[in-house]
Amino acid sequence: MSWPTERDTELFSIIDAERDRQNRTVQLIASENFTSPAVMEATGSVLTNKYSEGYPGKRYYGGNEIIDQAEELARERVKALFGAEHANVQPHSGANANMAVYLGLLDHGDTVLGLRLDQGGHLTHGSPVNASGILYNFVSYGVTPSDERIDFDQVRDLAIEHRPKIIVAGATAYPRIIDPQPFREIADEVGALFMFDAAHIAGLIAGGVHPNPVPVADIVTFTTHKTLRGPRGGCILSKAEHAAAIDKAVFPGSQGGPLDHVIAAKAVAFREAATPEFGTYAAEIVSNAAALAEALAGHGFRLVSGGTDNHLMLVDLRPFDADLSGKKARLILDKAGISLNENTVPGDERPPYITSGLRIGAPAVTTQGMGHREMREIAFQIHRVLTHRDDQAVIAETRDAVANLCSKFAPYPS
Ligand SMILES: Cc1ncc(COP(=O)(O)O)c(C=O)c1O
Repeated sequence: MSWPTERDTELFSIIDAERDRQNRTVQLIASENFTSPAVMEATGSVLTNKYSEGYPGKRYYGGNEIIDQAEELARERVKALFGAEHANVQPHSGANANMAVYLGLLDHGDTVLGLRLDQGGHLTHGSPVNASGILYNFVSYGVTPSDERIDFDQVRDLAIEHRPKIIVAGATAYPRIIDPQPFREIADEVGALFMFDAAHIAGLIAGGVHPNPVPVADIVTFTTHKTLRGPRGGCILSKAEHAAAIDKAVFPGSQGGPLDHVIAAKAVAFREAATPEFGTYAAEIVSNAAALAEALAGHGFRLVSGGTDNHLMLVDLRPFDADLSGKKARLILDKAGISLNENTVPGDERPPYITSGLRIGAPAVTTQGMGHREMREIAFQIHRVLTHRDDQAVIAETRDAVANLCSKFAPYPS
């Protein structure tokens, strides 16, 4: 057997360019991170070759005795990490994990309560353009206009009025701690199941800096690639009583063969997340996010809810500059080597693809080893670029300053 001898320079030069971009620009996308070499080694391993529909000990294909060990290890490690009764490590993504829960525990048209997209919820929490909103009857709760925190009075009123089968907590753009306990109490009051989507904060929970919803919720879903710093993928934790329904909904319900190389990489990440160093990392993310938020506020930016106590913050650009949309700001900052995303803010008049806000996160810069000094520098550069947004010289200078900063913290120097 012979492999092609000629290197695919066309493709690999693109990968090299992306590594260079990650090394030379600041990554502030709240859902991104830099994985360890061990996670990448597992992701790029021979496990990508295997087909293993089914679960350990119950496969539809031969030759799975070793793959079984990897999936079993991933399951055991994640159960120990979060104190879960059951784990399904096969979802290819967070969206798949959420959809599998709905498929396993709901009937078509059932009512579910979730956080509204424009108040920080995720597409899979009932957006009308997503399968969740198309297949199920989602009713949305929001944040209070006064302090922009989850409005638990509204959650309770809606739960009593609509009697949902599941109440979904969790968010994609919410800068505060989400206490699972009030959700549990409301779910019990109306006889609903309680699902916590911990996609963003799984690493903060694993690191012990945010409350763990696993003992409190019936089901917890999360992504493995955000604060948890693993490979791209999803995971479902549940009480033992839901194990069979959830496993069946993942396979054969909504997925085919699992990504065994990614499951192995998840196992690596779960082990890394169980170390004391990861606890320190999680605390540093929160501390860096707070420092960045404080510095941005010092430059006159309004922060949704007044700040942050997790890994991200939302900047409301409207009081800063009414003409500056989130999208416009993101495009300008991209040119300056600062990568983040536009985001709606509560009460946003602009549509979701334009928005009036920016979502800014600290997981990746913290992995790189940046600290409060660098957070202040980043805030300074963001403010400078956005106040001189038509000045190409300022944008070019900022790009150089950012590259200089990043050169001291390059995640993948070689
Ligand atoms: C709260 C929440 N749930 C689910 C997802 C979906 O994850 P994925 O992009 O892996 O499908 C995300 C992604 O950002 C998220 O923020």
